[in-house]
Amino acid sequence: MTTIYLQIKGTGSFLPPYVLTNDALEHMVDTSDEWITDRTGIKERRLAKETATYEMATSAALKALEDAQVSPQDIDLIIATTITPDYFTPSLSCLVQKEIGADNAFCFDVNAACSGFCYALDVADCYIKTGKAKRILIVASEALSRITDYTDRNTCVLFGDGAGAVVVSGGDEPGMTDSFLAATGRDGEVLAADMFGDGAARVRMNGKEVYKFAVSVNIKIVNLLLERNSLTVGDIAYIVQHQANKRIISAVSNKLGLSEDRIFMNLDKYGNTSSASIPICLDEMNRSGMLKKGDKVILVGFGAGLTYGGVLLTW
Ligand code: UT7
Repeated sequence: MTTIYLQIKGTGSFLPPYVLTNDALEHMVDTSDEWITDRTGIKERRLAKETATYEMATSAALKALEDAQVSPQDIDLIIATTITPDYFTPSLSCLVQKEIGADNAFCFDVNAACSGFCYALDVADCYIKTGKAKRILIVASEALSRITDYTDRNTCVLFGDGAGAVVVSGGDEPGMTDSFLAATGRDGEVLAADMFGDGAARVRMNGKEVYKFAVSVNIKIVNLLLERNSLTVGDIAYIVQHQANKRIISAVSNKLGLSEDRIFMNLDKYGNTSSASIPICLDEMNRSGMLKKGDKVILVGFGAGLTYGGVLLTW
């Protein structure tokens, strides 16, 4: 029996135009451009302001559909990932369906925080492999500015808003060849967003604990995917990690012996956009021509839950 692989056919992203720089943050909390740059690598981030999460998602989705040359009518499943939806219900995926006119799709959302895109790819892979869906739109959209406390310097310098999307379908040439998902709910308190009575939520985080978790699970995921597929780090064209902190990415790269030209980073421009960060990276890599057919790429997500996961792709 031939194996059916999930293949990424198109990518898209949307970043809202409003830029919040480190210099501007200096006027909001007791911080400095020097501290933020040294400790995180972030220089600026985008804020959605009046733009809804579903509007960012729709823009990214339309670009991915155009890149894939797939009509919305041909999409049979939409999976959206977000921790900052506009409504408890309808779901983000249903809102996107309505906006793009993907009338033949069924729709649901995944909440796995910053690991959401890896989780969604894994779910999509199951639908593709079983033949229950043929063309799937995955869209990750986050307006973290809506749950960020701009009086808390420990967190407000980190987050930004944006959306990324991919269109996937099945094929017999290798695409997504392996994946790994995990969660440790018992540690969930180190990174959470409380829901207050008025519906407002605010992120709280033990940065040091999340940092240690992030470095250790990143290394674990990459090593597991390499070993399981009899690969070495030298076989991998790029590792695309969730964009949380430059020091996390560098610590992982150093530990794995990975040179800088094989990691992709755009967190200096956008900060941490949660589940949108990996598909935004993929879209920038795709459109700039960095990704060549046959390149092996590992995606690594980690975040609140706590959740983590990785995907091995052949582009
Ligand atoms: O998607 C996953 C989401 N989260 C993450 O990935 C976050 C992971 N953690 C991190 O990235 C880092 O832990 C942070 C960037 C959040 C913090 O960096 P750190 O090197 O762990 O700093 P720290 O929390 O140990 O704080 C060191 C000092 C403290 O001052 P004292 O106690 O030494 O006087 C903080 O109060 O830096 C202070 N500090 C700041 N100073 C200026 C904390 N935030 C700021 C700030 N500006 N924005």
